[in-house]
Amino acid sequence: MKSIKDALAHRFGDFDHAVDPRIAEQPFLQGLASRGVCRRFREEAVPTTLIETLAALALSAPTKSDMQQRDIMIVDDPAIRGRIDTLLAEQDWIPQAPHFIVFLGNNRRQRQIHDWTGIPFANDHLDAFFNASVDAGIVLSAFVLAAEAAGLGCCPVSVIRNHAEEVSGLLGLPGHVFPVAGLGFGWPSAPSHISARLPLSATVHRNRFTDATREVVESYDRRRNGIFPFRSQRNVARFGTSPTYGWSEDKARQYAEPERADFGKFVNERGFKLI
Ligand SMILES: Cc1cc2nc3c(=O)[nH]c(=O)nc-3n(C[C@H](O)[C@H](O)[C@H](O)COP(=O)(O)O)c2cc1C
Repeated sequence: MKSIKDALAHRFGDFDHAVDPRIAEQPFLQGLASRGVCRRFREEAVPTTLIETLAALALSAPTKSDMQQRDIMIVDDPAIRGRIDTLLAEQDWIPQAPHFIVFLGNNRRQRQIHDWTGIPFANDHLDAFFNASVDAGIVLSAFVLAAEAAGLGCCPVSVIRNHAEEVSGLLGLPGHVFPVAGLGFGWPSAPSHISARLPLSATVHRNRFTDATREVVESYDRRRNGIFPFRSQRNVARFGTSPTYGWSEDKARQYAEPERADFGKFVNERGFKLI
């Protein structure tokens, strides 16, 4: 594994200072600096007790106002898993992932507490959905980092929200509970690689926001292509082949097609008000 300094320099291109000696050898942080997504796994199962420990570690993450508006759904019923795999067939790695869990936003418990206590719920607006979503995202991240520190490989799955209604039905989700993301995980069959990120100069702001210039983003495109060029280009039928294809072109092409335009309707039907 690379040192924290080398990994961060490689990832960001502009990390150029020494790492504080108090953390330089810290194994968890070394792993975090070098981490990467994993979509290829060995068949060997992860022990249930390890999965449950990782869930407990993940749920130890911070939660807004200690409200705990997020849950984890372990999907280990083969029939339910099979239905989810079929729904998500557009991503062929998912059925091969030995384990699958779903991170849920859960604003239902909070509302139940109001019902039980007779104390009125005065926050039936966008914040209820937002807080539960953020809490679920925090737990997703904590689970991934804990699992990676345990030697597992993981890949989050937002395409689960392309089928939010069907998945909610399969998992028996009641009102005000919704899927935020799935996660496929298992023992990795190959090492992950460090994905280059936008430079820190563009993403760490100090006191006042500054826009990233086009030059900075294009320079990131070139640096990233020098490390790990895109193997294929999106939507060549619509946009043709670009000789300079990079991250920004890929992201622009990705969002030139509507994705989950009906998600707001689904969230509304789960009982949330979005204004
Ligand atoms: C919320 C979330 C949703 C994601 N959804 C998917 C997905 O549906 N399919 C997939 O293959 N990867 C998915 N990913 C993985 C990202 O593509 C991956 O993290 C990203 O390319 C950066 O790579 P890295 O994690 O190796 O740095 C998702 C990641 C996050 C955080």
